[in-house]
Amino acid sequence: MAALTFAHHIRLSKPSFFLHSTKTISKSKNGFVSVSSPFIRRHKSTQTIASSLLQLGGVQISKQDVVKDEPTNNVPDLIFTKLGLQLHRRDDHPLGILKNAIYEYFDSNYNNQFHKFDDLCPIVTTKQNFDDVLVPADHVSRSYNDTYYIDAETVLRCHTSAHQADLLRKGYTNFLVTGDVYRRDSIDSTHYPVFHQMEGVRVFSPNDWNDSGMDGTSYAANDLKACLEGLARHLFGAVEMRWVDSYFPFTNPSFELEIYFQEKWLEVLGCGVMEQEILKRGGKTDNVAWAFGLGLERLAMVLFDIPDIRLFWSTDKRFTSQFTKGQLGIKFKPFSKYPPCYKDMSFWINDSFTENNLCEIVRGVAGDLAEEVQLIDNFTNKKGMTSHCYRITYRSMERSLTDEEINELQGNVRDQVQSQMNVELR
Ligand code: DAH
Repeated sequence: MAALTFAHHIRLSKPSFFLHSTKTISKSKNGFVSVSSPFIRRHKSTQTIASSLLQLGGVQISKQDVVKDEPTNNVPDLIFTKLGLQLHRRDDHPLGILKNAIYEYFDSNYNNQFHKFDDLCPIVTTKQNFDDVLVPADHVSRSYNDTYYIDAETVLRCHTSAHQADLLRKGYTNFLVTGDVYRRDSIDSTHYPVFHQMEGVRVFSPNDWNDSGMDGTSYAANDLKACLEGLARHLFGAVEMRWVDSYFPFTNPSFELEIYFQEKWLEVLGCGVMEQEILKRGGKTDNVAWAFGLGLERLAMVLFDIPDIRLFWSTDKRFTSQFTKGQLGIKFKPFSKYPPCYKDMSFWINDSFTENNLCEIVRGVAGDLAEEVQLIDNFTNKKGMTSHCYRITYRSMERSLTDEEINELQGNVRDQVQSQMNVELR
């Protein structure tokens, strides 16, 4: 719940769960849920599956490869429908336009040295997603509550950092990886279980820093900051920026870049000097590297004035026709705002209750008609039973919803919450 409030008031998008700056510690996600937490049973999605066989990074993937009726699998149908869409590869989509603008910056400032990957398969091993980038064994991001597991050793990548180690091992020393990433999460205008990130890595050799009078780490940190300040100016123009010390498992030192935009400090990206251990395992013992990761939706929402993250997935011409290849920062003109409909539901929670599980049910039933799920009341009675009241906001981006349709959705949500989460509705 705290993450929800946080996103509304402070950030434009989700706080990274790899980030442990003092800013986020008190606002951790929905509790530390162990890997053995009960999984949600799956239910039929109302959306049709776009294609039953996907081609991703040269690999053919069928629905059965991703959505399995096994206790170690928590991928719902709805997530499978997003797998092959690759919004970041559409040149006239805001995410593709932003990706290309970042490419342009790197190509022109680094003489085309950066290798660009945007079609790596989002199905990765837990080793790639976590171990290879030194995510601790008990880290919250490894829980079934936060990450989509295909089986105990295979996940939908929750960050593009999952590809760092492999690419280093393959010998790449300057690269950008763009891709769709997947996280179980709350529901509001800045959170969606699929979003897009770009990762950047640059490796230096002693030759690069020897004449600078600096040690490798300081040299890399300086280069990193100059590079990313340049990128922020390329995207936002002459903005005020600040560096904030941070913590990520994969970098040391670690930083966040913030820019002052529309009277707010906006976190733009996380970055740092790559942990030596990652380089060492990639066979690079004498090198130093920097790395960064940025969320494309967060930046695109600001640059294009897009008010709700669901819009990125809209196929409505009134959305898609507003963007043009190569034109960064055209302001989106909302076509219409349809009325929201609020439905409250209260229940006694049990020990295994998590908000992410609730949100998964709501998305499974209502898909993109679910705009927000918000905890509006929370109390514990004398017997020690805790009650939660959630307000679900339903709203379509594209049309008015009928009472009948909303009542049916809410009825289904109630049924599924009761049967799958074993909570007692009040
Ligand atoms: N992987 C981080 C996340 O998803 C973002 C990130 C931070 C990537 C720092 C990096 C980095 O490469 O150095 O929140």
